[in-house]
Amino acid sequence: INNQYNYMTAKVESWGSRVGLILAMAGNAVGLGNFLRFPVQAVQNGGGAFIIPYLVCFLLMGIPLLFIEWSSGRFGGKFGNHSTPYILDSMVKGRLLKYIGVFGIFTNIAVVAYYCYIESWTMSYMFHSVMGTFTGMTQAEVSAFFTSYVDIGHSTTGIPYEAVVFYIICLLINTFILSKGLSGVEKVAKIGMPLLILFGVVLAIKALTLGTSGASEQFPDANAWDGLNFLWTPQYESLWDLKVWMAAAGQIFFTLSVGMGTIHCYAAYVKPKDDIALNAVSAGFMNEFVEVVLGSLIVIPIAAGYLGLDWVKENAGFGMAFQTMPYLFQQWGEVLSVVAGVMWFGLLFFAGITSSLAMGTPWMGFMRDEFGWGRNKGAWSFGAMALILGLPTVIFYQQGVFDEYDYWAGTVSLVVFAMLETILFSWIFGMDKGWREITSGADIKVPNVYKYIIKYVTPLMLIIIFLGSLFKPLNNDWSGNVSSLLSGSGWNLDNGSIIKTITHAGIHDQIAAATDTAQIAALEDKIFYLNIARFLLVGLFVFISLLVFIAYKKRVKEGRATL
Ligand code: PHE
Repeated sequence: INNQYNYMTAKVESWGSRVGLILAMAGNAVGLGNFLRFPVQAVQNGGGAFIIPYLVCFLLMGIPLLFIEWSSGRFGGKFGNHSTPYILDSMVKGRLLKYIGVFGIFTNIAVVAYYCYIESWTMSYMFHSVMGTFTGMTQAEVSAFFTSYVDIGHSTTGIPYEAVVFYIICLLINTFILSKGLSGVEKVAKIGMPLLILFGVVLAIKALTLGTSGASEQFPDANAWDGLNFLWTPQYESLWDLKVWMAAAGQIFFTLSVGMGTIHCYAAYVKPKDDIALNAVSAGFMNEFVEVVLGSLIVIPIAAGYLGLDWVKENAGFGMAFQTMPYLFQQWGEVLSVVAGVMWFGLLFFAGITSSLAMGTPWMGFMRDEFGWGRNKGAWSFGAMALILGLPTVIFYQQGVFDEYDYWAGTVSLVVFAMLETILFSWIFGMDKGWREITSGADIKVPNVYKYIIKYVTPLMLIIIFLGSLFKPLNNDWSGNVSSLLSGSGWNLDNGSIIKTITHAGIHDQIAAATDTAQIAALEDKIFYLNIARFLLVGLFVFISLLVFIAYKKRVKEGRATL
């Protein structure tokens, strides 16, 4: 009883202002995904072939999920729930359904663990840009610098375990800001987002004005505009390629931060009568502006301008921006190269930190709602979990632990959770109630078609995407496998399908094909580390489920349980 009294009187946090809320939400969405993941996805999926599925996914899944998550969050907030297990519990009856919400805490802790590692690279690269580390390096040397940086045993920079040091500093900064609560998050967004846009615009203008003059001796035919033409010349045949659709949908999830639980959490601090519809659309479009306009106007034209489009296509990857940009900036002269380096890596840092802070909030909200934990306890326990989960991604980066987290937590979990929550919202909570939640207090008129899109189109697309990734056919050949299935020859799974990934089928194939014993040993080693990564991820999921269960028991005892 005493406890219950405390919950009732504990001061409920909420956002300081609407501008602050929108910037925080935009900061949540605008992240490393916009600048590092988007250009790579676009290039790997055929440029102009990618952009139509991408925009369609934005309108038919992105916007609907934003509406669903914002309205679910505000709804749960009315009952004092700030994380997905009990937000879902306040929406639908059924003892087990709240465990779906475990995803909305789990994913954040698992993703922040490796996300902060990339964030720490941006800090380190800012530092090295100022120190002039990259001055006079060739392209190959800049690239080699990155490789040795992530190989933490072989520091070439003099600082022992530099990557680990920067990683821990980065986590400390995040934890410290989180310990200041919502107002700390809001303040960082208010400073970081405008600076990010300013840096982005300056770099984009510079990229656009490179023209053909950017070409280096190595790549004399390169042209900044080639990259843009490649990205913006639509290719309609691609509409039939399911692989491109999967990639486009995956990017939409990641970039909008949907299917994660962070939007629910932020929206739970919105006052019950305040608008969410216009807010959702504003934050969503702001993210798309930064992604589609700024995100594509920096890396692609600059890299294509100096290295040539073919090189970019061949080398597209997550670390590409770290392996190339410091070298390319050097072509701009001594002073400008430092300025550009600080702007570019500073931009990435702000993009990253406003997202990683968001990932801390569901856990903190949950522990506060259920166990009365204050900000300090919430923030430092979050930091500690991120550290335990994150260190293996740093230390065993080259063994693939980082990618394993990104696959299960940063890709598969988002789709699973988005699919389940959409079905819950449209079909169990019910679309009539759902529509009322979306439109109540709305400062815009939400087009009526969205009622039907959210009810039918979005869940269907999510189910297709989920099944498609589960049963991805060999070589991504959909039509071939369908006819093989119909003719009785069965369905051949690709090694990249979720099912085959579980069994490490791809690595086993590599082992079977390998001849050299050292290589086989390395691959077997890799399986060992990937299994450890999975053990940690599953452990985290079980741990959070257990906490939700304990919280439920506690609620029953206090007479606060809904069932
Ligand atoms: N949307 C962020 C990005 O583009 C990533 C993110 C996902 C942030 C989920 C918060 C929650 O990088």
